[in-house]
This record gives sequence, structure tokens and C-alpha cells, in this order.
Amino acid sequence: MAIESVGVIGCGIMGSGIAQVCAGHGYRVCVYEEEDQRLEAGMNSIKSRLRREVARKRLSKEHQDRTLNRIQTTTDLTKLGEADLVIEAIVEDLPVKRELFEKLGKICSPHAILASNTSSLSLSEMAAASTRPEKVIGIHFFNPPTVLPLVEIISSEVTDQETLDKTMSFCDSIDRETVRVKDSPGFIVNRLLVPFIFDAIRMVESNIATAEDVDQACKVGLNHAMGPLATADLIGLDVLIQISESMFEEYGEARFKAPTLLRRLVSLGQLGRKTGSGFFDNYK
Ligand SMILES: NC(=O)c1ccc[n+]([C@@H]2O[C@H](COP(=O)([O-])OP(=O)(O)OC[C@H]3O[C@@H](n4cnc5c(N)ncnc54)[C@H](O)[C@@H]3O)[C@@H](O)[C@H]2O)c1
Repeated sequence: MAIESVGVIGCGIMGSGIAQVCAGHGYRVCVYEEEDQRLEAGMNSIKSRLRREVARKRLSKEHQDRTLNRIQTTTDLTKLGEADLVIEAIVEDLPVKRELFEKLGKICSPHAILASNTSSLSLSEMAAASTRPEKVIGIHFFNPPTVLPLVEIISSEVTDQETLDKTMSFCDSIDRETVRVKDSPGFIVNRLLVPFIFDAIRMVESNIATAEDVDQACKVGLNHAMGPLATADLIGLDVLIQISESMFEEYGEARFKAPTLLRRLVSLGQLGRKTGSGFFDNYK
């Protein structure tokens, strides 16, 4: 069966962007959150991104309206039972994701593909919890999903060929650039990126250089579009710690251990852009 409808679980930074991308490419999308308030916040961010695109004349008003009309929201998980593909983008916490996959295995129709947007957690564990491991796959979007076209496609040892083929075709249909990687903590990008960001934080922590200078050095010297500390603020400092924990646990290497300064900022509620400050301030 072809993929026609998509369920998205979690409507935060990633879920809202993923829902927008799928609806913008013609898919019917149903977004689930546990609370109405969260759904409203996520939908507001979708609306304001679309409005901005219309104001900049990059998108027609009709396209905006069609995109919004294709998105339904719900706090009833069983509504996702009709979806051909479900993509979860909830908190990066393995027991919570496992519990969700167990429910999805019962709720979703047998042909449905169950995908995780996890940044670093074991896809195989989620697959096992679902009781249909061959239909579980990783579709790892990048932040912000409405801008960055890369998707890492993660397969476990038991993901079947049909699931992989359908997922690759789906990603083509939403204009994504795909790379394939086996289930392993951090996959390709985060395995490289996290130690890089952590070294940048350690430099700031030990007063070797300011956050501004570390980022400027990477932008001008390495031709990066964004420095590592601004990237950390974009990802969310809490999410960065969550991502690193499973890599540290698996690889046991100190380079994957979250620096103290990062933990302090998170304790203070300075989570980066989403709270208005992190390594840099004044985010709107
Ligand atoms: N932030 C990034 O840069 C980034 C990039 C790629 C992948 N990811 C991954 O995407 C996932 C989501 O990250 P995010 O940055 O969007 O986080 P976020 O905190 O912005 O959003 C998570 C959303 O999930 C909801 N949620 C939590 N538990 C839930 C549950 N049991 N059922 C339904 N909804 C639930 C929360 O209410 C929240 O709205 C994580 O697995 C993360 O590792 C994040």
C-alpha cells in the first residue's frame, strides 16, 4: 500500500516541522500530543513559519492554506491507527519511546510503517517493543526540518526491504536528501557533531576563547554556516545532553560526556533558542 497519510507524534521543534514538511508535500497529516496546549503551541509555530514564507513571497497564500488544511490534530492516540506511516518525535528518552512503540504496535494497521526521529537512541529497542520490528525504521530529520533537507535513514538488523524501499520513496516525495546508516548511537551526523560541540563548550568553560570567537573561527575558518555554540542553542541544550547520554553509555568515551557548563545552563533553565538564551542571549 502506498503512503497517503502520515501520523506525527510530538509537536515540538521537530514534530511541528516534520508535520509541516509532509503536509506541504500533499500528505494528510494527523499530529498527536498528550495535551491540547502543546498542540496549540506547535500549530502556532507552523502557522507563523508559513505566514513568514508567504510574506517573503516564497510561498503562495493558497499553498499555505492547503498545507494547513491537510493537518489535523488530536490528543487521542488511536486516531493514528489509520496512518500509513507514523513518525514519532517525542522526548529523547528510551523507556518513554519504548512504551509508545508498544502502543503503536497495537493501534496501527498491520501495513503501517513505524518510524522514529530519534537522534541517538537504539532503534532496535523500539522495534522490539512494537512487536512488528520489521516495519520499524529511523527517519532522522535535521533541525529545522523545514530548512535542512538531510534525512538519515536508519535500519535495524530486521528492518525489511519493503519498509526500507517505501521509506526511501517517501523521503524522495518530500524532497529529502537521504543517507543510510545502521542502528548505532548518534548515527552519522551526531556521532561527529556532539564531540565537536562539546570541545567548543570546554574551550569556553576553561576561558580559552569566548563563545563568539569560537563560533566566528568555525564560520570563517571552516566555512561553516553556523558555529558549534549557536548550533547547540538551536538543537536545545537539554536535547543535546539527552543525545549525548546514550552515546556516552554505548561508546564509553569521555568525548561524549556532557561538559559541566552545559549541565549548569540546563539546570538554570537556559536551554538555547527555545527559552530565549543559552550560550548566546536575546533569541526571540
Ligand atoms: N532538537 C533537535 O535539533 C533535533 C534534531 C533531530 C532529532 N531530534 C529528536 O527529535 C525528538 C524530539 O525533539 P524536539 O527537539 O522536537 O523536542 P521538543 O521538546 O521540542 O518536542 C518534544 C514534544 O514531544 C511531546 N511529548 C513528549 N512525550 C510525549 C509522549 N509520550 N507522547 C506525545 N508527545 C510527547 C512534548 O510535549 C513536546 O511537545 C527527540 O527524539 C530528539 O532527539 C531533535
